[in-house]
Amino acid sequence: MDEERHLNQLKPARKHHTTNKTLATDELIMNPSRKPQTRSSKCLVYILLALVLQSIALLIFGLVVLRIRTPSLRLSALVVKDLHYEPTSLNMTVVAEVRLHNMNFGRFEFRGGNTTFLYENATVGVTGIYDGRVGSRDKREMNVSVKVMASDHQLSDNSMDFFSRDVDSGLIQLRSFAKLKGQVRLVKIINRETTTVMNCTMALNLTSQAIQGLLCQ
Ligand SMILES: *[C@@H]1O[C@H](CO)[C@@H](O)[C@H](O)[C@H]1NC(C)=O
Ligand SMILES: *[C@@H]1O[C@H](CO)[C@@H](O)[C@H](O)[C@H]1NC(C)=O
Ligand SMILES: *[C@@H]1O[C@H](CO)[C@@H](O)[C@H](O)[C@H]1NC(C)=O
Ligand SMILES: *[C@@H]1O[C@H](CO)[C@@H](O)[C@H](O)[C@H]1NC(C)=O
Ligand SMILES: *[C@@H]1O[C@H](CO)[C@@H](O)[C@H](O)[C@H]1NC(C)=O
Ligand SMILES: *[C@@H]1O[C@H](CO)[C@@H](O)[C@H](O)[C@H]1NC(C)=O
Repeated sequence: MDEERHLNQLKPARKHHTTNKTLATDELIMNPSRKPQTRSSKCLVYILLALVLQSIALLIFGLVVLRIRTPSLRLSALVVKDLHYEPTSLNMTVVAEVRLHNMNFGRFEFRGGNTTFLYENATVGVTGIYDGRVGSRDKREMNVSVKVMASDHQLSDNSMDFFSRDVDSGLIQLRSFAKLKGQVRLVKIINRETTTVMNCTMALNLTSQAIQGLLCQ
C-alpha cells in the first residue's frame, strides 16, 4: 500500500515531468521559428528607414533642384553716346549692359522682351531684346542700344516743366524697365513659363555726359 501510494504520488510527478518535457520540446520547436521572426521585423525596420531616407532625399532634391526661381535682370554698365540736349529736348543713345543671371538647375530660354527708358511716366526709348538662352546656373551679358528722345512729342506739359528744371540743374532723372519672357527647362521634362523684370532708376549728368546713381531693384 505504501509502495502503491508512493507510486501514485510518483505518477502525477512523472506526468508533470512529461508535461514539462513537452513544454520544453514545444519551446524548442517555437524557438527556431522565433529567430527568423525578429530578423524579418528588423529587415522591415531597415526597409522603412530606407524609404524615409529616400523620401527626405527626394524632398531635398525637389526643394533645391526643382525649385524654379525667376532669373534676375540687372543693368550693370551704361554708356552715353551722341548726346544733344536743349531745355526742351533730349537726344542720345544709351548702350546698356544687361546682365541676366539664371540661378536654376536648368537653362532659361527667352523669346524676347523690351528695355524701356522713361522720363516721369513717358516712354522716351524702347529697344527689343531678341531670342537667346542662358545655361544652368549661369550668367549672360547683352549690350542693348537704346535711342532716347525726349521732347514735347513724348512729354506731357506737366513732365515738360520737370524736364526743363532737370536740364537747368544738369541732372536728368530717368528710369529703365526691362521685361524678358521665356521658359526655364528643368531636367528635360519640366518647362515653366517665367517673366523676369528689371526696374532701375538713374540720373544723366549733362556735365560729365554719363549716367550716375544707377539703382536697380
Ligand atoms: C538725334 O541724334 C541723331 C544723331 O545723333 C540724329 O540723327 C537724329 O536726327 C536726332 N533726332 C532728333 C529727333 O533730333
Ligand atoms: C515691346 O514693346 C512694344 C511697344 O513698346 C510692344 O508692342 C511689344 O509687345 C513689347 N514686347 C515685349 C516682348 O514685351
Ligand atoms: C558691351 O559693351 C562694352 C563696351 O561698351 C564692352 O566692354 C562689353 O564687352 C560688351 N559686352 C558684350 C556682352 O558685348
Ligand atoms: C504719373 O502717373 C501717376 C499715376 O500713374 C500720376 O499720379 C502722376 O501724376 C503722373 N506723373 C506725371 C508727371 O504725369
Ligand atoms: C520700380 O521701383 C520703384 C522704387 O524704386 C517703385 O516705386 C515702383 O513701383 C517699381 N515699379 C515696378 C513696375 O515695379
Ligand atoms: C556731374 O558730373 C560732374 C563731372 O564729373 C561732377 O563734377 C558733378 O558733381 C556731377 N553732378 C552731380 C549732381 O553729381
